[in-house]
Amino acid sequence: MILPKKGVDKTEISKRLDAFRTGDLDWRSGKVFGYVFDPGKEAMEVGKEAYMKFLTENALDFTSFPSLYKFEKEIVEMAVTHLNGGTEAVGNFTSGGTESIILAVKAARDHARVHKPGITEPEMILPITAHAAFHKAARYLNVKVVPIPVDDTFRADVSALKGAITPNTILIVGSAPSYAHGVIDPIAAMAAVAKENGLLFHTDGCVGAFMLPFFKKLGEPVPDFDFSVPGVTSISMDLHKYAYTPKGASLVLYRNREIRRHQIFACSHWTGYTIINNAILSSRTGGPMAAAYAVLNFLGEDGYMDIARKKIEATKKLLAGVRKHKDLRIMSEPDFCMFSFTSDTISVFHLIDEMNSIGWYIQPALSYENSRQNIHLSINFSNVEWVDAFIKDLYKSIEKVRGVKYGELGDVLKKEFENKDPDSLSDQDIRQLLEMGSIGGEGFPEAMADISEMLNALPAKLRERLLIEYTNGIF
Ligand SMILES: Cc1ncc(COP(=O)(O)O)c(C=O)c1O
Repeated sequence: MILPKKGVDKTEISKRLDAFRTGDLDWRSGKVFGYVFDPGKEAMEVGKEAYMKFLTENALDFTSFPSLYKFEKEIVEMAVTHLNGGTEAVGNFTSGGTESIILAVKAARDHARVHKPGITEPEMILPITAHAAFHKAARYLNVKVVPIPVDDTFRADVSALKGAITPNTILIVGSAPSYAHGVIDPIAAMAAVAKENGLLFHTDGCVGAFMLPFFKKLGEPVPDFDFSVPGVTSISMDLHKYAYTPKGASLVLYRNREIRRHQIFACSHWTGYTIINNAILSSRTGGPMAAAYAVLNFLGEDGYMDIARKKIEATKKLLAGVRKHKDLRIMSEPDFCMFSFTSDTISVFHLIDEMNSIGWYIQPALSYENSRQNIHLSINFSNVEWVDAFIKDLYKSIEKVRGVKYGELGDVLKKEFENKDPDSLSDQDIRQLLEMGSIGGEGFPEAMADISEMLNALPAKLRERLLIEYTNGIF
């Protein structure tokens, strides 16, 4: 593409934009489990209108735009009350779960620099189910990840946690819930270990923290995970997921200002304007804050209780449907409206392709440690009315893929690459591997089963190398 010499007219631009959508997931169908969180037409409109009203305001400097300061302050106050933060807890608005997590890890690292200056190689203890964003934070911030195992329900192993603490530990992480299996780690026991050892503890409530209090009010057995738990020192909670606000909205909360201080960035070491940032980004639109404020207030507690009630019902129905089928196995009974299931008799990757080819979107997850390859479902408000149809199509699709041969490519690759250092592979080796997974050519592949099977057979480090090389090649 080159910049056109003459500007293109508005109608043509609009047509072109619509044409760009061809091939995107049709989230409006209600048949997509993930990615888009649709609160229904009216709430979506409220969010959009607020977003557009503040699209051009800049959160770079809250003193120039007190409106944005006020949105942030009111939203954080609401969140602190929601998560039992009392009078001491504070927080900030960020662009998403990943940014909230990076900031929480940065705060922990810099808190340690001040309070434990002897630590030169900081470590963070993560259950293997913790979100990839913590690994991103670790790599960006030069913090070492110390992984701990999870039990067969995919909850963190507390005795392994105790054994993983070293003089370099700066932070322990638990999820409420973890994305993959929708289960809540034993937060109270883990945070107690952190407290006994004088360590910070972060609850990753990106996906669950907003909705879980509503689940609890509706009588679901939700274990404590928030600031009511002694030892929890920070929490990430996304609004752009199950609070159904437009994207670019998350919160990072701290038990007190003393910890949060280490999150904030100020810079006078240059010749331009003075910088103070609560978040990673500097210039950013005020849209997500205004939209979050609008949707939270529009739906209110009653609106969210209604959504929660319907989602609980839908999740239970889906679980029952999966449980009833002899070829399927739920990986772990979830604590939330998301879960994973697998099969010992058919290829889950082909089942996913089959379902997605008839208008659904469900997500594959590769095997990792004691979690085998599976199908992940994040249940959305918009999925609620499609549950019966989903189960029907799932059963039909199982019959279609029964007998499909799988695993052969994986077995060959496993043998060849299990013990190879990914960094020692040449560009030619990488190209060959990508071609084996049918992802060497132009465009995106329609069917993903071969790619998933290939990646599934390879060690995590090699998977990462392939994904990086592929992405580096296509942009
Ligand atoms: C538990 C958990 N933490 C963190 C994240 C990262 O959030 P984001 O995609 O908004 O960066 C997710 C995303 O699904 C999540 O489920």
